[in-house]
Amino acid sequence: METKTKRKFFDHGRLERNVSLLGIASLIVVAIGGIVEIAPLFWIDSTIEKVEGMRPYTPLELAGRNIYIREGCYNCHSQMIRPFRDEVERYGHYSLAAESMYDHPFQWGSKRTGPDLARVGGRYSDEWHVQHLVDPRAVVPESIMPTYPFLAERELKAGDMSGDLTALSRVGVPYDKAAIAAANEDLKAQADPTADSMALVKRYPKAQVRDFDGDPNKLTEMDALVAYLQMIGTLVDTRAAAAQETVR
Ligand code: HEC
Repeated sequence: METKTKRKFFDHGRLERNVSLLGIASLIVVAIGGIVEIAPLFWIDSTIEKVEGMRPYTPLELAGRNIYIREGCYNCHSQMIRPFRDEVERYGHYSLAAESMYDHPFQWGSKRTGPDLARVGGRYSDEWHVQHLVDPRAVVPESIMPTYPFLAERELKAGDMSGDLTALSRVGVPYDKAAIAAANEDLKAQADPTADSMALVKRYPKAQVRDFDGDPNKLTEMDALVAYLQMIGTLVDTRAAAAQETVR
């Protein structure tokens, strides 16, 4: 019969019966897929869309973020609004990649016992946050969040913040020499409305300068944590980002 004598262009039967041959062939196929997906990453400048307004954390916000991590707030709170209608209606514009580009480690989270906090900044007053952290039930009767009254009493002992800034600059957060040198003064200046905060605000646009915990005589852990909470998700003008999207 003619078909039997004809040599097949590709003998699949042989390939499937020979383990080494199948291994090599699989490797080639997977490598092609890998090159198509990975290679472009070496030629594009960034996988993160550029957005206006992103800046590194101020030393006080960073100290607050360190407390947030120390207290394990991330066990109950995520900081990433997914692009689903229910989430966007509840929390605001979905999170942009650039909004967590200076986060080391990121706080996206995978579990929400409490609400997402990616846009909590400016949603409540400082007093609300202080009361809520001291006793969540005082403002949200049905809350199951733990109490953190000690934050309001404990003096903020952030240590030498220039070390934190230096470490972050090593992994690509753009803190310059001046910012690192001024880290400790910047930390104090942000929580002190009487201090000269011109340099601080110039270095960190949109930095909120005030006494955050309601006790101007003391720089507490509460000051740092509330300063951090009040800035989360406020740097990027998401209305402008949304308008740009509709144009596209
Ligand atoms: C055991 C889980 C749990 C932990 C840990 C926890 N929270 Fe909560 N959090 C909740 C729950 C539940 C709510 C919703 C009820 C409420 O508002 O108290 C909430 C609400 C909040 C809100 C209000 C959010 C909104 O949009 O209304 C903020 C802000 C907040 N938490 C901050 C923190 C911070 C900061 C920490 C760490 C110091 C923390 N939480 C730790 C469970 C938790």
